[in-house]
Amino acid sequence: CCGHRRSFKISKVVPATAAAPTTTITTASASHSQSPPHHPDDSMEGKAFLTEEPAYKNLKQYFDNNGSKLNILQMFKEDAGRFKKYSVTLKTPSDGDILFDFSKNRINSEVMKLLMDLARARKIEASRDAMFSGEKINFTEGRAVLHIALRNRSNTPVMVNGEDVMPSVNAVLAHMKEFCGKVISGDWKGYTGRSITDVVNIGIGGSDLGPLMVTEALKPYAVGPNVHFVSNIDGTHMAKTLKILNAETTLFIIASKTFTTQETITNATSAKNWFLDTAKNPDTVAKHFVALSTNAPKVKAFGIDEANMFGFWDWVGGRYSLWSAIGLSIALHVGYDNFEKLLDGAHFMDNHFKTAPLEENLPVILAMLGVWYSNFYGAETHALLPYDQYLHRFAAYFQQGDMESNGNISRPQCMDSRGRPSYETGTHRVGAVPASNRARHLLQLIPRATRIRRLLCTAKSTTIATTSTQVLLMANFLAQTEALMKGKTKAEVEAELEKAGMPEDQKKRITPHKVFEGNRPTNSIMVEHVTPFTLGALIVMYEMKIFTQGIVWDVNSFDQWGVELGKQLAKAIEPELQDKNPVSSHDPSTNGLINFIKNHL
Ligand code: F6P
Repeated sequence: CCGHRRSFKISKVVPATAAAPTTTITTASASHSQSPPHHPDDSMEGKAFLTEEPAYKNLKQYFDNNGSKLNILQMFKEDAGRFKKYSVTLKTPSDGDILFDFSKNRINSEVMKLLMDLARARKIEASRDAMFSGEKINFTEGRAVLHIALRNRSNTPVMVNGEDVMPSVNAVLAHMKEFCGKVISGDWKGYTGRSITDVVNIGIGGSDLGPLMVTEALKPYAVGPNVHFVSNIDGTHMAKTLKILNAETTLFIIASKTFTTQETITNATSAKNWFLDTAKNPDTVAKHFVALSTNAPKVKAFGIDEANMFGFWDWVGGRYSLWSAIGLSIALHVGYDNFEKLLDGAHFMDNHFKTAPLEENLPVILAMLGVWYSNFYGAETHALLPYDQYLHRFAAYFQQGDMESNGNISRPQCMDSRGRPSYETGTHRVGAVPASNRARHLLQLIPRATRIRRLLCTAKSTTIATTSTQVLLMANFLAQTEALMKGKTKAEVEAELEKAGMPEDQKKRITPHKVFEGNRPTNSIMVEHVTPFTLGALIVMYEMKIFTQGIVWDVNSFDQWGVELGKQLAKAIEPELQDKNPVSSHDPSTNGLINFIKNHL
């Protein structure tokens, strides 16, 4: 089936491509100018249902014959060069190396070759190029997917509907730069002439979690005002935040792509009322409220000056929007220059994804390993464990990214791009940080779970040990990946208990509890420091992993009909909660819940 067969080999060091950014974004030809929504059937002719794909069948056959025999520890014993073979180092232009070690996986050269055969059969490269060239790959919404243009530091034209979007992208960046300069320097004055000390970002989903995760991760780079994030419609979130703030020195950012999201608009209205309770004069709103949105009329209707609106476009998916104006809170907190470095790091990884051969391509390898465990070992859970305190929202961010993009939880029903009932897609990720404390429960669970083959742990370290606490942290990280791989045999446990002088009957009772099967796979990703650049690169590495898996599974990773359904239903229920009349129009459970709320509100 697969004429072109390559033996799997990783070159150890992949040189940086971002220092002198090469043109990696293809300029769309005139034929793209009015291109209709891209449906996989249009250009992906012949793309089979995943399980019918010959490359998939080859992998399945290999798995059936060998899957249970692949023992990681054993494979290390048999191959001294295994680490070298299954690790990649990316050299960044100025922020050190990024090491990706995937040698502690249930893989060998045959598995990797078959996985890459599958990646090629699913047309990863063509799909990637379609995205980069502005094709409307979000075919159910008729939209291009071009968050890559937001961080296109090489500035090559990116065409959407016959128009280069880069001038508009750069204009918004210039507006952000100017605004950040004024706020950070203190030149931007509130209504009483005082400078801004606090910024409150009001948004939800991608309009909240991306900037929140990044501002937390880059706390050591803070140069601007404090930032706070309010997303929950539970009034407590807003009340708790406002309690410590002074209206005179607070700036509110209303972050909403659509500017129709109920939670955000409700919270924004509460914030405006709170502000006006003190400021009184509606004309002062302009000094304290800015909007990040694609919907200028709604922003205006809310009372925000259009000059204080930072725009973006329908080709920026909500969950991929931190690179757009939605990143304003990041730029205000860490300074515009650092925001640009974040974009540089993202562009560096975009270039890597775009140009590196699949066998050396970090997002592709991560994605295909995920397919290996999801589709063959039946993995449902993926633990993403950042060993750096500042990355404490990283896993949550990618839980959102993975599940909203590829998970079937957000989909009314699980189907592939052609509407065929599909297989399970998207792992349901669990993450915790710092891995040495909260991850303890996961590390207790992972080696013991009876469905252990359903767990995949990605341990991620972001600091090189330099102090004693970091040494301890690193020791924990290393020990945990080693423990997951090695486990503990019955003989080892018995010898240990024997040595401790445990009586025979007690030994018998305790031994089974201390035996661990091992052979649990992990990936380790190391950077020297979490900098704006390396963070940008790491985020994109996972973004593109999600993209690649969407292509393999043949799902549209960029629409959000499940979320829309939830929004629609919430809109319908809201008026029903306005009075005390009992409701009977829903299913008995929903009726019961609504009536309980009505009686107890
Ligand atoms: O979480 C679902 C979602 O639709 C995200 O895609 C989006 O980022 C978020 O809600 C908020 O939407 P908006 O930015 O339009 O308010």
